[in-house]
Amino acid sequence: MSRVVKLAVIPGDGIGPEVIAEAVKVLDAVTAGSDVSFEKTPFSLGAGRFLETGDTLTDDDLDAIKAHDAILLGAVGGTPGDPRLKDANIERGLLLKLRFELDHYVNLRPSKLYPGQPGPLAEPGDIDFVVVREGTEGPYVGNGGSIRRGTPAEVANETSVNTAYGVERVVRYAFELAERRSKKLTLVHKTNVLVNAGSLWQRLVNEVAAEHPEVAVDYLHVDAATIFLVTNPSRFDVIVTDNLFGDILTDLAGAVTGGIGLAASGNINPSGASPSMFEPVHGSAPDIAGSGKADPTAAIGSIALLLDHLGLREEADRVTRAIESDISERGSAPRTTVEIGDAIAARLQA
Ligand code: NAI
Ligand code: MG
Repeated sequence: MSRVVKLAVIPGDGIGPEVIAEAVKVLDAVTAGSDVSFEKTPFSLGAGRFLETGDTLTDDDLDAIKAHDAILLGAVGGTPGDPRLKDANIERGLLLKLRFELDHYVNLRPSKLYPGQPGPLAEPGDIDFVVVREGTEGPYVGNGGSIRRGTPAEVANETSVNTAYGVERVVRYAFELAERRSKKLTLVHKTNVLVNAGSLWQRLVNEVAAEHPEVAVDYLHVDAATIFLVTNPSRFDVIVTDNLFGDILTDLAGAVTGGIGLAASGNINPSGASPSMFEPVHGSAPDIAGSGKADPTAAIGSIALLLDHLGLREEADRVTRAIESDISERGSAPRTTVEIGDAIAARLQA
C-alpha cells in the first residue's frame, strides 16, 4: 500500500534554502522506489517574506501548515541588527508561535560524535545522547512584563511556567525514549534554587520512573551538567530538562560533538494532533549565505529524525548510516553544500 506524506517545507532565509535543497535531495533518494512518497508544499516565511509583505506568520499560513503531516524548516532570520527587521520578531512571532500553536512539547536534540569527526575535546570518549527539552513551557511562554520601563526603577519579569500536565508528558516521552536506547535517563534542573519548579519536575520523574524499573535515573544540577558535558559526556544517554536549560545545554552539546553544521533537531507533538517540525539547530548564517560553505549535514540529520517520527525507521537508519559514513570519510579538503548533499544522497542509491 502506498503512503503519501504531506510535507510543509519552509526553506527560510540565508543558508536555509541551501541546506534544505540538500535535505530534500536526500529525502527523495532514500524514498526513491519505495511505497512512501512525500508531497511537498513550499512556504515562504521568514525575514525575506517580512521585508516583502510586512507579516511574519498569518492565521492563513498557520491553517495551511496545520493541514500537513510534518514540517521541514531550514532557518529563518536576517542579519542580526538589520534595522529593517526591528519589528519582525521572527523568534517569537514565527518560530515560537509555531512551537506553541502546534504544541511541540518535545524538542528533541540528539548529540552524537561520529567516528572520524574532529571536535574540541581531547578525549571525548563515546558521545551519543539525546536531550529531550520541554518545548511549550518554562520562561519562554511570554508570562511576564515590565513596568516603569526606561526609568531607574524599571521592573522586568518573565515567569517560568511549569504545569504538572506539561512536565509529565515530556517526562513520559523521555522515559519511553530511554527504553528504546540504553535505558539511562538524567533529569537536569536546578532543584536547589528553583525549588518549586524543581520539586514538581523531580516528583514527576520519580513517579514515572516507578513505571520504568529498567531505566536507571540520575539527577544533575544544570551547572554540574555543563561540567560533565565537557569532562565526561559518555555518561549521558537521555537528558530530560526544561525549556531554558535545554536551550543552553544543547548548544554546548552541539559544540562538543563537532559543531553547529551537524546538529539536527525535532520539534515534536508526539500525540500527532498537529504536525511536528524538523530543523537544523543552526540559524540562517547570513555571514556565509550564498558562498556554498554551509554544511547541510544538520538539515539532512533532521530528515532522519523526520523519518523516524513518521515510523519509517529503516529509512531513518539508512540516512543516519549515510551521514556516518560520509563523515568518517571526510578529508580535510572543504566541500561545498551541494557536494556534501550529493555525496550523502549517492550513498543511499548505492
Ligand atoms: P547561526 O547559527 O546562523 O550562525 C552562527 C555561526 O555558525 C555563523 O558563523 C555561521 O556561519 C555558522 N554556521 C551556522 N550554520 C552553519 C552551517 N550549516 N554550516 C557552516 N557554518 C554554519 O546563528 P546567528 O548568526 O546567531 O543567527 C543568524 C540568524 O539566524 C539570526 O537572524 C537568528 O535570529 C537566526 N536564527 C534562526 C534559527 C532558526 O531558524 N531556528 C536558530 C538560530 C538563529
Ligand atoms: Mg538556541
